[in-house]
Amino acid sequence: MKSLDTIIAQRYSPRNFADRSVSDESIRQVFEAARHAPSSYNEQPWRFIYATREQSETYQKLLSCINEYNQSWATGAPILMLSLAKKHFSQNGKPNRHAWHDTGTAVGFLLLKATELDLYAHQMAGFYPDKAREAFNISDEYEPVVMMALGYLGEEERPEKPRKEINEFAFAGNEKVL
Ligand SMILES: Cc1cc2nc3c(=O)[nH]c(=O)nc-3n(C[C@H](O)[C@H](O)[C@H](O)COP(=O)(O)O)c2cc1C
Repeated sequence: MKSLDTIIAQRYSPRNFADRSVSDESIRQVFEAARHAPSSYNEQPWRFIYATREQSETYQKLLSCINEYNQSWATGAPILMLSLAKKHFSQNGKPNRHAWHDTGTAVGFLLLKATELDLYAHQMAGFYPDKAREAFNISDEYEPVVMMALGYLGEEERPEKPRKEINEFAFAGNEKVL
């Protein structure tokens, strides 16, 4: 079994996917991981619309919501996905200020599980939320957050992605004023 450190180091966002489909069981497992993410008042505001390449009608609809640049590489992915956030708490109808945050956490859980299964995901802000809203008849209560391509790794060189040092984003006490 891979350690969490190994999984974190292995994960990156590729632009080339292998021509290999993902089993229903693996798809279930990545959503099972998302299912257990924490959320404000346990609202679990995340939703996902996804399609495998075999589900061609929905896949094409998802693909059409992605911008031209991202389409150029995402077209080969065996799975396309859209995440959405429910904007209000189901219990009392109050705005959920953390719906996007919690949706991101669920995506984080999904990504880690995917990586454990040797699946790779590439998220995309470059898509048309209004087009997605229309294509999938999404009500105002749900906000499209991010699109994602998911699959096994194709052949490509992993790009260098610089990371901030810890002391650039984590401050003990009041040692630094933001
Ligand atoms: C919310 C979000 C939106 C992103 N949008 C795009 C995008 O539209 N196109 C793209 O090529 N990459 C996109 N990315 C990928 C990031 O560029 C990538 O995660 C970042 O450079 C770090 O690289 P790594 O994921 O390989 O570690 C997005 C990532 C996130 C989390």
